[in-house]
Amino acid sequence: MGIKYIDNELYVDNVKVASIVEDVKTPVYIYSKQHFIEQFEKLDKAFSRKHSISFAIKANSNLSVIKTFAELGGGADIVSKGELFRALKAGVDPQKIVFSGVAKTDDEIEYALQNDIMMINLESKDELYAVNRVAKKLNKKARIAFRINPEVDPKTHPYISTGLKKNKFGVPYEEVLDTYIEAGKLDNIDIYGIQFHIGSQLLDSTPIYDASVKVADIIKQLKEKGINIKAIDVGGGLGIVYNKKEDNPPSAETYVAQIEEAFKDFPDALLVCEPGRFLVGNGGIMVAKVVYHKTNGKKNFVIVDAGMNDLIRPSLYGAFQEIEPVKIKNSQKIVCDVVGPICETGDFLARDYEMEDVENGGYLAVFSSGAYGFTMASNYNSRPKACEIMVEGNSYKIIRKRESLEDLIKGEIL
Ligand code: LLP
Repeated sequence: MGIKYIDNELYVDNVKVASIVEDVKTPVYIYSKQHFIEQFEKLDKAFSRKHSISFAIKANSNLSVIKTFAELGGGADIVSKGELFRALKAGVDPQKIVFSGVAKTDDEIEYALQNDIMMINLESKDELYAVNRVAKKLNKKARIAFRINPEVDPKTHPYISTGLKKNKFGVPYEEVLDTYIEAGKLDNIDIYGIQFHIGSQLLDSTPIYDASVKVADIIKQLKEKGINIKAIDVGGGLGIVYNKKEDNPPSAETYVAQIEEAFKDFPDALLVCEPGRFLVGNGGIMVAKVVYHKTNGKKNFVIVDAGMNDLIRPSLYGAFQEIEPVKIKNSQKIVCDVVGPICETGDFLARDYEMEDVENGGYLAVFSSGAYGFTMASNYNSRPKACEIMVEGNSYKIIRKRESLEDLIKGEIL
């Protein structure tokens, strides 16, 4: 099960990728439900105490994907009204939903309070006052946590590291106590938790442990001041393998063991985690069709029908994602740039990449596309978004239709 080659043919679970793409065309995202379930269960089993796995739905917010985790008992980490809407539609228990983000508006706060989610993770005093004001209007008490900036270097890509002093996220470490004390004075605030998230695609568990130790110290200090933390939210960030030769992320067991060790003095608190990439990243591929080959001087270009509008990670972060033919023919290898149709030099899926060549009309799979793939897609160059497929065992289902030309202009007024 999962995504693998059998006799040189790529399969997602028990279904041949070639047969899916012949049916639904390209570009297409294809997910393995089995992989999603296995990842969730790996993490779930790693905990030895009360916990909640709140899937960071920004990684993959298709309703069927969210529902897969909800059915396993998972919750959701949301960052917008739209994500809360999706989580509720997919059947996530509101009591397992946490709300992250630095810029929640009154409207979003109201929607979260009306739906009685587990807690709103606040990042500033301004936001605290806003939540108190909105809760008062609704005659409610808002369960809140503060997101702490633990000032720990996560050793990941600068665009996805969030726990440093220079980042916009979280309450500065030295202001945390004062901020909680201020919250304690407000009538419509129920201090419920504490949260941190130091970055994404973490390949080393030491920064998570270091941050946890710093946060544990704060919980102790809060306790001394009579403030009792009921939920400790450790954010997301656990990395996955993008590059088989280089990436060696910690296992779920190691990651959880470090967290549990750091918070062992608070056994009654609920441990919340917000994994995104770990749950879905390696469970998805994006498949594109080779349209043309082109050589420019010494450079080979393999031009495909998917671009940065479909999968932006390589262009935006210089991220590496493996690309392989859907059918391996052991033909000649080439070093090439795999590029898309978008009118931008930065529109590439891989650069100076060695792979087996695929003839025009053949298919390429971009691996590890289950996280931050479709969710970051756009309609740039007026290209309809790809369709999404979920494979379950021997069969597959379209879980989001390919966009039509009419979808492209929906809402526009002439
Ligand atoms: N919790 C919070 C508060 C977050 O900001 C994030 C990710 C997560 C959880 C989930 O992190 P994960 O477990 O997936 O690492 N677009 C980038 C990743 C941006 C991550 C943003 N925040 C990429 O494609 O690599």
